[in-house]
Amino acid sequence: METADIETDLSLFKYDNLEQLPEAYRELEEGERRDRIEAAKEELGDDLVVLGHNYQRREIVEHADFVGDSYQLSVEAAEADAEYVVFGGVTFMAESADIITDDDQTVILPSMEASCPMAGMAEALQVDAAWAEITEAAPDADIVPVTYMNSYADLKAFCAEQGGAVCTSSNAHEVFEWAFERGDKVLFLPDKHLGENTAHRLGMAESVAEWDPWDPEGKDAEEVARSDIILWDGYCQVHERFGTDHVEQVRAEYDDANVIVHPECRREVVEAADAAGSTATICETVAEADPGETWAIGTEIHLTNHLQRWHPEVNVVPLCGEACMDCNAMRQIDPNYLTWVLEELVAGRERNVIEVAPREAELANVAMERMLEI
Ligand code: 13P
Ligand code: SF4
Repeated sequence: METADIETDLSLFKYDNLEQLPEAYRELEEGERRDRIEAAKEELGDDLVVLGHNYQRREIVEHADFVGDSYQLSVEAAEADAEYVVFGGVTFMAESADIITDDDQTVILPSMEASCPMAGMAEALQVDAAWAEITEAAPDADIVPVTYMNSYADLKAFCAEQGGAVCTSSNAHEVFEWAFERGDKVLFLPDKHLGENTAHRLGMAESVAEWDPWDPEGKDAEEVARSDIILWDGYCQVHERFGTDHVEQVRAEYDDANVIVHPECRREVVEAADAAGSTATICETVAEADPGETWAIGTEIHLTNHLQRWHPEVNVVPLCGEACMDCNAMRQIDPNYLTWVLEELVAGRERNVIEVAPREAELANVAMERMLEI
């Protein structure tokens, strides 16, 4: 298929049931909103579980029954027996929850506009076309595709069909090891930085090729044939922002500074930091820090703000100060939306339901189950 066709077929929003916030919910005052959310939660009782990713704003996190990283939230979703799972996160996370929960459970994403741009950088349609080129470049190799949790269900389904699996930032190295037990090469999508950091962790940094689907120059068939790990050229703009200059600045400002970053950061930043890990690892590290220690956090700014509130005894600072970004996709989960979807559930109406097509869900579940079993 021609790239031009793929471009026109790619879309930011995967669902056409996008419902906007009604006028009456747009200007709610915080105190009233908090009471209404809690009242709706009480009314729904055990029929409801609210999950919140670590990057959600305070006004969402404080109403979540469980707050965590992508991996923990997928485990919580799998274990939830509530009829409704309301997901404070982005589309790919809610899709994963729908895939992993039973058919009689309903997953609701308060705002359908919460779509991770990185997940949109590798759509199944596009990967399917690239797969033909990559397998042609290395005809004798067994290539195992591994997709980061930050991808849509159709790509997870594609990976399952090709014998691959899903990984998160907390288990990427283990999933790569699993893949190398089954094949000769790994195609990792969509985050090249997590892929490169994982290759380093496994001592395979010398055998990495990049595949830029948008750039004919960025597709080197010979390099693909030579390399063990092929990285799709996707990235997260929130994490790409961090540079080694930020690490140097923070070390100059605080002589006792410890630096921890998310593995979606560039390789040189992870190398310059003291530690790297998923959002759950970042939370645990700060929770275990001694009072008075300084920890500079290289990830989405809401998590840094939470850590400052949750651990006032630790000196938690954002790695790039005022320049640290929030995630535009996560930000779409506005607490007014949360109020609306919960009150609608109380009234017996389901809004902004995420429902992955059955065949796609079945396959994507295979790729996710492989991860959960590793
Ligand atoms: P975690 O899996 O570490 O929670 O990260 C999710 C994410 O979107 C990072 O940008
Ligand atoms: Fe996607 Fe980056 Fe936002 Fe995570 S922080 S959801 S990878 S855009």
